[in-house]
Amino acid sequence: MKLLVTGGAGFIGSAVVRLAVARGFHVVNLDALTYAACLDNVSSVADSPLYAFEQADIRDRAALDRVFAEHQPDAVMHLAAESHVDRSIDGPGDFIETNINGTYNMLEAARAYWVARGRPESFRFHHISTDEVFGSLGPEGMFTEETPYDPRSPYSSSKAASDHLVRAWHETYGLPVLVTNCSNNYGPYHFPEKLIPVVILNALAGKAIPVYGKGENIRDWLYVEDHADALLTVITKGKVGRSYNVGGENERTNLELVRTICAILDEKRPRENGSYADLITFVTDRPGHDLRYAIDPARIGAELGWRPSVSVEEGLAKTVQWYLDNEAWWQALQSRKGVGQRLGVKA
Ligand SMILES: NC(=O)c1ccc[n+]([C@@H]2O[C@H](COP(=O)([O-])OP(=O)(O)OC[C@H]3O[C@@H](n4cnc5c(N)ncnc54)[C@H](O)[C@@H]3O)[C@@H](O)[C@H]2O)c1
Repeated sequence: MKLLVTGGAGFIGSAVVRLAVARGFHVVNLDALTYAACLDNVSSVADSPLYAFEQADIRDRAALDRVFAEHQPDAVMHLAAESHVDRSIDGPGDFIETNINGTYNMLEAARAYWVARGRPESFRFHHISTDEVFGSLGPEGMFTEETPYDPRSPYSSSKAASDHLVRAWHETYGLPVLVTNCSNNYGPYHFPEKLIPVVILNALAGKAIPVYGKGENIRDWLYVEDHADALLTVITKGKVGRSYNVGGENERTNLELVRTICAILDEKRPRENGSYADLITFVTDRPGHDLRYAIDPARIGAELGWRPSVSVEEGLAKTVQWYLDNEAWWQALQSRKGVGQRLGVKA
């Protein structure tokens, strides 16, 4: 099976590419190489005969047509997106163009290719989305696949729009689509602007560890390699036209999460004086910060037999160790625009 993976030089896409190649899939990685990309993320498979890379922008329809024609994929896994909520507050335009218009281009390029091949039933267009499209939960309840959409940030609303387009292309044109909505991911190769790497890297540098608001926001954390495994399960076994929620069953407040990371660092690389937790600093909250996300992963468990393999404590220990062992990777990204700065407070 040949997969066309978009966004394969990013955090989750690269985990999908590495796992897919390890499992014997042919993979074409299509990525525009924006600020969030890093080809080192896929260096372990770059020389594999199963792997090809195409630098292309999903906003460029002609480039997409060329890639489909040249590589003739059996399925698409569409992960390319602008993904950082704070950046979406400062500059929503890129999110509209890539997440909405880019997904529209992907759908149209995939549809033209699928129709030209005689509409094979086995073709799949798998759209990778987020639980943020469902909005914010109170203390009780969980997001199911039937939860009404209620996105609240420019990022989540652009992802919600793209989910609707994907479903419409299935209903209207019969394109064989799959949609997954996943909770917050963490793990190796996480770009150093996101919460968990910020905590690890600021702690190691002896800098303040910023926690938005009172740190009470709750997220359901999923180890990125478990997410990649879920995505390959869905693309091979998922039912056409269906959506699947993917979660880690690991709800933690941001403050609990940050304290856990500090405790792991205290053990692995003790500070000379005190605990890393002494560096925790509460900062102005993100505008419109959703209080709680929690995924009910019952459908993917019951229908496809998928479950996360690690608890958040195990996954965080592996992640912290990875950042300790891969300083050259994250040092090289420190000079990228916006990294190390507080973004998304303009609103
Ligand atoms: N990170 C999470 O916790 C999370 C959770 C659920 C869903 N998702 C979704 O998973 C997908 C991947 O997220 P991520 O965290 O790996 O993102 P990321 O920002 O790390 O990577 C995105 C990749 O897409 C590429 N890209 C961006 N714009 C492009 C364009 N116009 N054309 C081609 N390539 C482009 C970038 O170069 C980058 O390699 C996204 O669709 C995101 O919405 C992420």
